This record gives sequence, structure tokens and C-alpha cells, in this order.
Amino acid sequence: MCGIVGYVGPKEAAEFLISGLRRLEYRGYDSSGVATISLEGRLVVAKTSGRIERLEARLADSPAPGHIGIGHTRWATHGAPTDGNAHPHVGGENTLAVAHNGVIENFQTLKSRLTAEGYQFQSATDTEVIAHLIDSCLKRQPAVDDMAAADYRPLVAAVQEALAQLQGTYGLVIVFRDWPDVMIAARLGSPLIVGVGPEEHYVASDASPLAGYTDKIVYLADHELAVLTCDSLRVIHRDQGHIRHNIHVLDIEAGDVDLGTYDHYMLKEIFEQPETIRNAMRGRLDHDAATAKFGGLTLTPRQLRRVERFVLTACGTSWHAALVGEYQIESLARLPVEVEYASELRYRNPPLGNNTLLFGITQSGETADTLAALREMKRKGHPVLAINNVVGSSIAQEADGGIYLRAGPEIGVASTKAFTSQCTILAMLALYFGRLHHLSYHAGTRIIEELMELPDKVQGALDTSDEVKRIASKYADCNNFLYLGRQFNFPTALEGALKLKEISYIHAEGYPAAEMKHGPIALVDGHTPSVFLLPHGPVYDKVMANLQEIKARRGPVIAVVCQGDTEAAALADDVIEVPAVEEFLQPIVSIIPLQLLSYHIAVARGCDVDKPRNLAKSVTVE
Ligand code: G6P
Repeated sequence: MCGIVGYVGPKEAAEFLISGLRRLEYRGYDSSGVATISLEGRLVVAKTSGRIERLEARLADSPAPGHIGIGHTRWATHGAPTDGNAHPHVGGENTLAVAHNGVIENFQTLKSRLTAEGYQFQSATDTEVIAHLIDSCLKRQPAVDDMAAADYRPLVAAVQEALAQLQGTYGLVIVFRDWPDVMIAARLGSPLIVGVGPEEHYVASDASPLAGYTDKIVYLADHELAVLTCDSLRVIHRDQGHIRHNIHVLDIEAGDVDLGTYDHYMLKEIFEQPETIRNAMRGRLDHDAATAKFGGLTLTPRQLRRVERFVLTACGTSWHAALVGEYQIESLARLPVEVEYASELRYRNPPLGNNTLLFGITQSGETADTLAALREMKRKGHPVLAINNVVGSSIAQEADGGIYLRAGPEIGVASTKAFTSQCTILAMLALYFGRLHHLSYHAGTRIIEELMELPDKVQGALDTSDEVKRIASKYADCNNFLYLGRQFNFPTALEGALKLKEISYIHAEGYPAAEMKHGPIALVDGHTPSVFLLPHGPVYDKVMANLQEIKARRGPVIAVVCQGDTEAAALADDVIEVPAVEEFLQPIVSIIPLQLLSYHIAVARGCDVDKPRNLAKSVTVE
């Protein structure tokens, strides 16, 4: 969703702002803008609906000069995606500019009060309220001759006074026309990171804009506010006052967030999977003890041994990974697992026993529903752990412990490499808990061997790309698809259907293959392809019978099978052969051709693969 950047230092701010906004495009947006303060003390604002290219064109005609500035990509919540509703918003008589992520719930009340004070609103947004409110608070502060010598105390006091009146969530950056050397950033429930460079500071809503600019970063926590000039950074907590900040090393490089030779981030990330899966496993397989090991599971061995039940909660693709985890943990560790949509769990009040372990699964670590569900469970005294990709994200900060995916930045809106890393980590968790209970040493060793071969098997599945592209062009005009699989491959069917929907806008449904008879079979006709997940395994014959049922109704069939499967080839219209793996790893291999199929179909239909309509990479509102 929305993205924020800010800069103060010796360079032209607009250069970083535009490059940073480009790096944030992946989050999903419908308008963008920048505000700078020129050397003559003018507050210059440029903003426009549509893509960043339009903003750049506007800046080419009418530049935004200055060494301090803020920028924003907006994903509309309050008010349509128009030029006027785009951020930054100015407060007072052009005295300050604000860029905001999050939602202000009491904006209507504040707006009425500020209107009565004489403020005139130019937009339908909740953010403009913040801008005028800070201006109003600023007017009540005592005048100070030398703001820098006074540590910008009146500015900080005005911002703090305004923040105290806001209900909702915010990540905010503010610049002030009359104090062109200082920027204030503040956070409550919406992430903000400060980048520390030589004689310069950056602000961004996630780390990707900073890669290549600085590798020193400070994560702001909720209720913290940062006062930034080119050569100073002070962090102030609402309750604790001035606090010491820790500088962390940013572990992503510019190459990680660049496209390289690929046409799209999604394709790049699909092809990164052998490496990202290797990274998920690195140092986490204990050959001597035939088990897995994780540094971040903060519970004691005694607590872990007592775990009797798992609850896995997530949204979107991460929820599908949780479903895969359910099959893996139940079959390898023989412990019951429940998978909950985070958006449902947060308002349900399910009875959870003392020995229930709750995992939030998330790529971004920022999904509002997942964060809220974890908070709710934590409030009730349950330890909550996270399986999460983004270091320093809100969920990483709030969970009691967890396991990082180490997949590197995922830029494509449709999640690919995060899914397979999540499934790999869940397989290792299943091994770990299995070894705490009934799994033998030999069984553990065999599972480790299977895991270690997984990256090569995934590479084998990637080698189908040309064949999948051919199949994609054959079916790219179809408007409905079914995805069918059973057991471990039922979640794969759901995920395959979601990928196609997300980026090609084709209606697709995933079903347990046998369930297809109870309704979806009515959809089958000569223009509705069914994608069957049909690897060797205990339910092969059953799924084959379902395939026959589709063929009997003249439905086209694309079958994902194990290499060398002649039986399926004789029946299906198109066959994609992937390497055989044990059942608990099948989703990780079988999903690869489905990712490629949705990618190639979307490209064939001329869709904007990395920025699909209406979607956001990280859904930070409820
Ligand atoms: C959004 C994204 C999906 C993602 C879901 C959950 O809807 O578009 O790709 O699966 O959020 O995100 P998370 O970061 O929590 O995994």
C-alpha cells in the first residue's frame, strides 16, 4: 500500500525521492507526489494521479529543488485517486507538508473542529487533517529565535500535541517551510525506517528505497518520533522522552531490488527460488541429531516439548502456505494444526489451550489483520511466533520470537518465493516437532536428505518454463480456470488459482479434486481448462479418476505430473513434467509451473504483472 520517502542532506532531495518512490511502486499505488523546500524558502509541492512517470514529467516541466523533501505513493482509502487527494498535503498557509501512511479514524471530528478554526480543506483525505492540526498546534507554541539551538523543541511539541489527538495509525514525515533544515518522522502502527548516511538522513516506509544509498538503518518503533537534520538524529518516545537509538546494518543491496536481466520482478523472483529455499535451510539442519534447529524459537525446550497443538494464521498466499504447513506438521509431527484467516481470528474468541503454539505467517510482516490477530492472542497470554521475511517489520518487532525466511526483498505483488520459503520452513518445523516425539533418527535423516535435494528439484521444475509458456499461449484467451489437487496439493491448487486471478484477472478457482463434483463441474466446458496436480503418491489414482470425469465432459486438462508419467500424458491435453519428491515437499515443486503459467498468461494478455490492478503488496489497513 502507500509508501513514504524523505531526505535531508547535501544532495538534491528530488533525486532520491523519485528513485525511492520507484522502489516502493511494488507496494501498489494510484497516485504519487513530492514536496521540497527550495533554498529561497519556498515549499514546492508536485503531485499527480497515475504512475510515477507522470510525476516525473511534471517535475521535468516544473522542478522541485532543495536539499530537503518528502515523497509518497498513495493507495486510495479516503477519497478517489485524484491529483488533489495525492500526498504530500500542506498545512496552514503552505507552512508545512505531510506524507502519511495509515488511517486516521477520527478525522471527521478533527476536520469539523479545524474548519471552525478557519482552516480550508482542499482534499477528501484524512491526512490533510494532520497537516492543519500540526499547523494549528504550531501556532500556539512560543516563538524561538534560534530553532536549531532550541533543539527544534516547539516543532516537536507541536507534532506531539497533534499526534496525541489522532486515533488510528500513522507513519508520518513532515517538513516545515520556515525551518528548512529539519524533518520530523513519527510512527504508530505503520512502519518507518531512518537511513543514516554521511552528513545526510533518509526516511522510508520500508528498506528497499535505501539499498545502495546507505547500509545503516534505524527502525522506529510505535510512539517514537525522529528529529532529523543532515548531521543529527534524535529519537523521542512519547512516554520515555529522548531515547538511544540502535543502528542496524541493512542486509539488502541495490542488486536485490533491481530487475537485472528479467522483464519483471515476478519472473526474477520465480527463478530465485532454488537459492531462496537454500537460504531458508542454511544452518538450520542438524545432521547429527537428524532434526532441524532454529535460533529464534524463544520458548524453552521444555515448553516446546509440551506443545500439543498449533494454530497458524495468515492472509493471502501466506495463508496457503499455512495450509501446506497443516498437512506437513500433522503428517510428520502428528500434532493437530488449525489454520485461521487472520482477519477472522482477530474477532473470534476461539478456546486455545495452554499448550497451543501460535504462528503468524507473513512475507511483509506488516499485514494489518495478521498483526491484529497476533496481538489479540498475545493479549490472552499465548506466546506468538512469526514466520516472516522482513527484518525489523512490525510483526518481527511484536512477536515473541520466530523464523526469518531470508528470501530477500519480494517486489512482485504476486508472492512467489516467499511462499516456497514459508513451506520449506514449515517442513523443517514439522521435522523438528516430529523428532521431539515419535520420528526415528532414520526417518529424520531421510527427511533431511529430501530437503537438501529440494533446491535442485525446484530448478528441475523451473526448466519447464518454455513448455509452460507454450501452454500459456494456447489457453491465454480462456476466461475461467479450475485448479484441482488433493491432500498436500489441495493448497497448491488454491495458490495456483490465486496467482492466475491476481495478475491476469482471469476467474480461477482452486478445489480439492474430488470436491469438484459437488458444484464446480457445472462450469466445465470446452473453454474452461482444469489444471490438475497429479504427482505420484497415495492419491494418484483417485485424482486420475477426477481427471477422467473432466475429460468425459470435454474439458481441456493441463496436468502437472512427475517426470516420466505416461499414464497422465495419454489422457491430458497438455502435460508439465516436474521432478518427483516426497509428498510433504510436493507443493514446493508443483507450484513452480503454476507460478510460471500465471506469469506467461498474464504477459500474453498484456497485463501489468508486477503492478496488478487494485492489489497492494502489503495490506496495512483492515
Ligand atoms: C497481500 C498481497 C499478497 C499476500 C497477502 C499477505 O494481499 O497482495 O500477495 O499474500 O497480502 O501478505 P503477507 O505479507 O502477510 O504475507
